[in-house]
Amino acid sequence: MSSMDILEEAKAKACCAGLYQSELARMVMGDSMHPGGLALTNQMGRLMGIQPGDWVADLASARGNSAVAVSRVFKCNVVGVEFGREAALEAHAAAVNARLAERSHNVQGDAESPPLRAGRFDSAFCECAMSLFQNKARAVAETVNLLKPGGRFGLSDVTVEPNCLPAEIDGTLGQLLCLTDALTVQGYVDLMEASGLQMLHQVDASIEGIKILDALEAKLGAFTAWQKMTGQQGPDPEMLERGPELLTTLRGLVQEGQLGYWIFVAEKPTS
Ligand SMILES: C[S@@+](CC[C@H](N)C(=O)[O-])C[C@H]1O[C@@H](n2cnc3c(N)ncnc32)[C@H](O)[C@@H]1O
Repeated sequence: MSSMDILEEAKAKACCAGLYQSELARMVMGDSMHPGGLALTNQMGRLMGIQPGDWVADLASARGNSAVAVSRVFKCNVVGVEFGREAALEAHAAAVNARLAERSHNVQGDAESPPLRAGRFDSAFCECAMSLFQNKARAVAETVNLLKPGGRFGLSDVTVEPNCLPAEIDGTLGQLLCLTDALTVQGYVDLMEASGLQMLHQVDASIEGIKILDALEAKLGAFTAWQKMTGQQGPDPEMLERGPELLTTLRGLVQEGQLGYWIFVAEKPTS
């Protein structure tokens, strides 16, 4: 990789982190930035078999919502790695507020090559972020490296079948919804198995994708009503006008199985 490529990669990651730290992301996605929210996080934690006292890495941890919840529910230690500096600071504040700062830690860094000690983690999870990673194979290999033998990796993410997305889902919107570089269901399985992981569970949680689209539609409706009442313009009037049609298209794609949200849990072999 040339120094130019490295610079471009770092800029793209900073831009992505900036987008997720923005008010737009908070408004669109809320605090738990993946379909299914904390209920799905806990489901994945149970499938991963997280035990009290375990050390768990949360890769691309955003504002620490899942890290705090997992450390509370499973009574384990969680280390979140997040590229966005502001988000990592907010995650620390969230852990302090929840009186969990002794068990929920946060570092600012690249989750594709996490700045954590190799071979020390009982498990690791990555929610709605592998789809954003530029070098997915390296990210999974680095995750495997963090795990002890027998350690488990829980991945939940958007799945997209090839060539199904409408043309207008590009740029910021595609990235915000984690669609642009998402893989197929089999693509994630192949990715994890290529790093030597043994697949234990694959769960179709696409219904959560429908719920998030319904919630987006409700927010869009409320915003449009507010605009009419106040006479104020939103940031992107054209996008707002096309929003309902786009959401209907996306919902249709989920119903057809072209678009989805899945949980994958795999284990690092013991020998
Ligand atoms: C859709 S949000 C998901 C956040 C969190 N995992 C959750 O489910 O609530 C994606 C997050 O991944 C972060 N991210 C993307 N690429 C990253 C990287 N290479 N290293 C660390 N964080 C990254 C973004 O900054 C953003 O906070």
